[in-house]
Amino acid sequence: PGGAGEQGALAGRHVLVTSGPTHEAIDPVRYIANRSSGKQGHALAAAAAAAGARVTLVSGPVAIPDPEGVETVHVESAREMLAAVEAALPADIAIFAAAVADWRVADATPEKMKKDGSGLPPLALIENPDILATVAHRQSARPALVVGFAAETQNVIAYAQAKLARKGCDLIVANDVGGTGVMGGDANTVHLVTRDGVENWPTLAKQEVATRLMAHIAGLVPVRTG
Ligand code: CTP
Ligand code: CA
Repeated sequence: PGGAGEQGALAGRHVLVTSGPTHEAIDPVRYIANRSSGKQGHALAAAAAAAGARVTLVSGPVAIPDPEGVETVHVESAREMLAAVEAALPADIAIFAAAVADWRVADATPEKMKKDGSGLPPLALIENPDILATVAHRQSARPALVVGFAAETQNVIAYAQAKLARKGCDLIVANDVGGTGVMGGDANTVHLVTRDGVENWPTLAKQEVATRLMAHIAGLVPVRTG
């Protein structure tokens, strides 16, 4: 008899989550990446499903399994992630937990680069699209609630407030990734930054952060009428 799927706080909602790193090709065998494990984003997707939502998870390359009960779309690069996110809209809630590579190599070569004596490869970089800002600034099909993350190593709250304004999202979940092994680890200390102020949470397991965050977010989405 009807599980959380019918009765949960997010029943009838579509929740879109990005997770993991992106890989930006240098040549067919090399890439630029980062230390994101996808643990926090995947846990959020699972928590949204447990709260009754239909969930689309757009994941970069990770070593962890797809969460159960979630439609997972696998991508490699930032540009692929943006395309998959836009294809998944409309959504009621969009949560951008991915550690998107900020830059990609301007001229990724179709063949493997060789040490052929002609010097070091120049590797010119160009900026990737900002997926969160693109979705938050949409004129049509903007999710009612757009949530970003901000992994910082210093000035955590100030940088998060600046990102909230610049990217046009509704909530930034800020965390300090300096030193303590948050990237890849199982615990996270987050601060919820909105235009109304800052809410500091204690250090919690990423699973627990995910469950509490989805409950918090469910309370923020406008109630549907009719
Ligand atoms: N983000 C994104 N697309 C990008 C870069 C970031 O969607 N190309 C999202 C992340 O998923 C996260 C938020 O934006 O939710 C903040 O990411 P972060 O890397 O902290 O912000 P940046 O604007 O890239 O700033 P910087 O890395 O210089 O701190
Ligand atoms: Ca970045």
